[in-house]
Amino acid sequence: MKQLHKLPGLGQQQPIRTHSPTYTVTAARQHNSRSSAAASYLLREQRLLFVLVGAALASCFFLLQPYLSSSDRLLPTSDVPHRDLLPVSAASAGRRMPVGLRRPPLRIVVTGGAGFVGSHLVDKLLARGDSVIVIDNFFTGRKENVVHHFHNPRFELIRHDVVEPILLEVDQIYHLACPASPVHYKYNPIKTIKTNVMGTLNMLGLAKRIGARFLLTSTSEIYGDPLEHPQKETYWGNVNPIVHLGRVCLACLPTVSEVIVTLCLLHGQVRKSSHFQLRIARIFNTYGPRMCIDDGRVVSNFVAQALRRQPLTVYGDGKQTRSFQYVSDLVDGLVALMESEHIGPFNLGNPGEFTMLELAEVVKETIDSTAAIEFKPNTADDPHMRKPDITKAKELLNWEPKISLREGLPRMVTNFRQRILDAQS
Ligand SMILES: NC(=O)c1ccc[n+]([C@@H]2O[C@H](COP(=O)([O-])OP(=O)(O)OC[C@H]3O[C@@H](n4cnc5c(N)ncnc54)[C@H](O)[C@@H]3O)[C@@H](O)[C@H]2O)c1
Repeated sequence: MKQLHKLPGLGQQQPIRTHSPTYTVTAARQHNSRSSAAASYLLREQRLLFVLVGAALASCFFLLQPYLSSSDRLLPTSDVPHRDLLPVSAASAGRRMPVGLRRPPLRIVVTGGAGFVGSHLVDKLLARGDSVIVIDNFFTGRKENVVHHFHNPRFELIRHDVVEPILLEVDQIYHLACPASPVHYKYNPIKTIKTNVMGTLNMLGLAKRIGARFLLTSTSEIYGDPLEHPQKETYWGNVNPIVHLGRVCLACLPTVSEVIVTLCLLHGQVRKSSHFQLRIARIFNTYGPRMCIDDGRVVSNFVAQALRRQPLTVYGDGKQTRSFQYVSDLVDGLVALMESEHIGPFNLGNPGEFTMLELAEVVKETIDSTAAIEFKPNTADDPHMRKPDITKAKELLNWEPKISLREGLPRMVTNFRQRILDAQS
């Protein structure tokens, strides 16, 4: 083959340069004398001892600092054995970082992030400097709920159904994707079950593959029509296992929720070695701005009816009780849980308890004192009472709700009034 460029020196014998023996011996002697001088410097005046003591003190400080800064690590982790807790990075756990170091921003997925609770969670995560990817199929979610973040480079929105797998690289996953209101989860019950089971399995699989921390939003429906009051996390619930046609989804909702929680816990057991980290929240009735209007949930129903000057519909005698939590309290609880060292489940709800008639009165006080109340026959299996016992969340997450119904309701009313007016114009 024709050689195009002659390489310099190619084909010529290159002399191999070696150091002369005299030079090598001199260099070695100099090196030895420098090392022995350094060693004797260290040994003089107990300098070595001071260096070792200093290193030991610094190691102790960095090893013990996370334990000293979060005392709740020393408390037991409820019904889930403590050995199930896996080591987590300080960044994803949100523990206090050593003085002078800032927690690096996290990449976080919020499934169902365009929905009611999800969009408020996204607001909080972006406000504290993290990057957020919302996954939503817009079944009940709306772009309007997150449109104010479209200019933010730390925000991404993906139209995707969680029933299908997805690949992403993130530190944490908040899994909220599932219609929460009766109107929507009864619309296509089979799809709701698929979303719950397959969607959760897909997101669990993703969390396992990428080593992300995974938070499941389970529900107080798991307690059914409770015989224990208020309900602790350890209560097994009183669920009607007989599924009535037409109420199929409502009847099986607690069962499906149990199945999902079990799936998550099994995943945690099976995937111990893969740094899988699980958190489970049990959410009680939550209200606030951006709830779907006319979604069949009692607070949104009453508020929408009062604003439209329609009678407030009370089912049954109105003496059944519920507890109502303002959405920002729930979001604080979800974040506190995600960043804690505890798996859960944790009840997240407001223990303030109201009968439906008392709630109707608060809505009347806030919107229209002349609003009428209309009674209709109650639906089967409607729980007689619901009230969370939040002792565990108070102790282990240092969390409790701050906003009372009388404080939170006017904020929701302002948002609903605007949306109802917009829809009419
Ligand atoms: N709000 C409450 O009072 C309450 C009570 C108990 C539990 N929860 C749970 O909290 C979560 C959020 O509730 P919410 O009140 O914000 O409900 P929501 O209906 O407003 O939000 C659910 C979001 O999930 C999305 N979604 C539904 N199916 C999906 C799918 N297959 N793929 C991708 N996205 C999907 C919807 O479009 C919506 O944006 C739900 O999992 C719900 O079960 C809420």
